[in-house]
Amino acid sequence: ILCIRAPCLACRVCSINVYRIQLAVSLEEGAGGGGGKPQAAVASWLAGGGRGAVRGAGPAAHPGGSDRCKDFSLCYWNPYWMLPSDVCGMNCFWEAAFRYSLKIQPVEKMHLAVVACGERLEETMTMLKSAIIFSIKPLQFHIFAEDQLHHSFKGRLDDWSFLQTFNYTLYPITFPSENAAEWKKLFKPCASQRLFLPLILKEVDSLLYVDTDILFLRPIDDIWSLLKKFNSTQIAAMAPEHEEPRIGWYNRFARHPYYGKTGVNSGVMLMNMTRMRRKYFKNDMTTVRLQWGDILMPLLKKYKLNITWGDQDLLNIMFFHNPESLFVFPCQWNYRPDHCIYGSNCQEAEEEGIFILHGNRGVYHDDKQPAFRAVYEALRNCSFEDDNIRSLLKPLELELQKTVHTYCGKIYKIFIKQLAKSVRDRYARSPKEK
Ligand SMILES: *[C@@H]1O[C@H](CO)[C@@H](O)[C@H](O)[C@H]1NC(C)=O
Ligand SMILES: *[C@@H]1O[C@H](CO)[C@@H](O)[C@H](O)[C@H]1NC(C)=O
Ligand SMILES: *[C@@H]1O[C@H](CO)[C@@H](O)[C@H](O)[C@H]1NC(C)=O
Ligand SMILES: *[C@@H]1O[C@H](CO)[C@@H](O)[C@H](O)[C@H]1NC(C)=O
Ligand SMILES: *[C@@H]1O[C@H](CO)[C@@H](O)[C@H](O)[C@H]1NC(C)=O
Repeated sequence: ILCIRAPCLACRVCSINVYRIQLAVSLEEGAGGGGGKPQAAVASWLAGGGRGAVRGAGPAAHPGGSDRCKDFSLCYWNPYWMLPSDVCGMNCFWEAAFRYSLKIQPVEKMHLAVVACGERLEETMTMLKSAIIFSIKPLQFHIFAEDQLHHSFKGRLDDWSFLQTFNYTLYPITFPSENAAEWKKLFKPCASQRLFLPLILKEVDSLLYVDTDILFLRPIDDIWSLLKKFNSTQIAAMAPEHEEPRIGWYNRFARHPYYGKTGVNSGVMLMNMTRMRRKYFKNDMTTVRLQWGDILMPLLKKYKLNITWGDQDLLNIMFFHNPESLFVFPCQWNYRPDHCIYGSNCQEAEEEGIFILHGNRGVYHDDKQPAFRAVYEALRNCSFEDDNIRSLLKPLELELQKTVHTYCGKIYKIFIKQLAKSVRDRYARSPKEK
């Protein structure tokens, strides 16, 4: 984080000059050390793609105080971050422009979307918290929620705005205006919202969509980086619905086509929406290929009597006909009770731990799968203070040890393996510490 102190009246020119000098110094210094001098902080931000800049820079990075604003102009290094209301921040714009001219890559934002309806406020906030705690690059949240939830979301998220690592937009549940009425009639509004994200968020290139019952146990940066692994025909990424066909749902019960051996689960879906909007999809309704916006309605009309899981079924039908467009990621990126309730069947998670936990079937809120619930409660209860995050592991492990009478609890170590690593990587006081 870079703080520039300059008289407010002259802040534009002055700050660019100060900035030019600091940047020159910091680029020469290379990666620098992280905290301490502002130059070092800038340098480490550049070198690390932002890693550690927020928490690493220490109290000096929060000059706050409205009295100071009258005399000084401050700018936070990352132009995407929100400025505190009491800060004169006009020079951020110039610095961002200046940065472009130096051909330094702007910090890419990671876009996360969620659809929250009914009693999902607390669960959604816990999901967002897990995203914030571990992620490195700045986040942009797109929250689609029923109108009565907007006020609470705003209040809760504004309480976190001091973190300056995320920005959010709240949207009502919406449909493309042409056949909004028809969609509402055919489908529960919240269930189909996610299908329209590429059409609603027209300006967004790529997006991670998650259900509200998701918990991130490692930085979103890591799943986000899979976007760069897409080959030229891939447009979206999901995990298989099942690892074990004997207990699979689609292969035993579905009355419609589905992707692969056991279908895919749409609870964690990474999308390159630029590609989704451009693609013409093969389909079983016409011989003509159709674009995303044109395919949904005919697809729904054809299959509405045969689908059980709503939009996930439509996605399965779509990727059945266009399998070259799907990137399939392993089960530890979307780990559900199905992966352990009848015995462990997600081998990748056994080896490396769970990366993203998906407590579907309401397991965070009942007593059926206490291992899932324990992780949820630990994250729900924790605050953003470094100490608090560091000390969440021990009590969680004790809770998990109480669940060994369940199949999921027997392998409880995989629930904290990656989580412990993420806490260590991001919050370790010193490299030696446990
Ligand atoms: C934050 O999101 C709002 C929309 O809610 C947008 O207008 C604004 O430009 C965003 N701010 C930054 C710094 O990205
Ligand atoms: C729906 O399911 C029925 C019964 O399995 C089947 O006969 C029919 O072909 C299915 N419809 C579509 C559009 O696949
Ligand atoms: C998404 O696809 C478009 C078009 O191929 C590409 O320009 C863009 O870089 C991709 N986005 C990401 C994050 O990889
Ligand atoms: C991209 O990967 C998918 C899945 O492995 C594959 O079906 C497809 O043919 C690949 N596309 C190209 C252009 O190699
Ligand atoms: C979380 O907090 C609740 C109530 O505030 C408490 O009952 C519960 O034991 C806590 N759980 C964990 C895992 O810390």
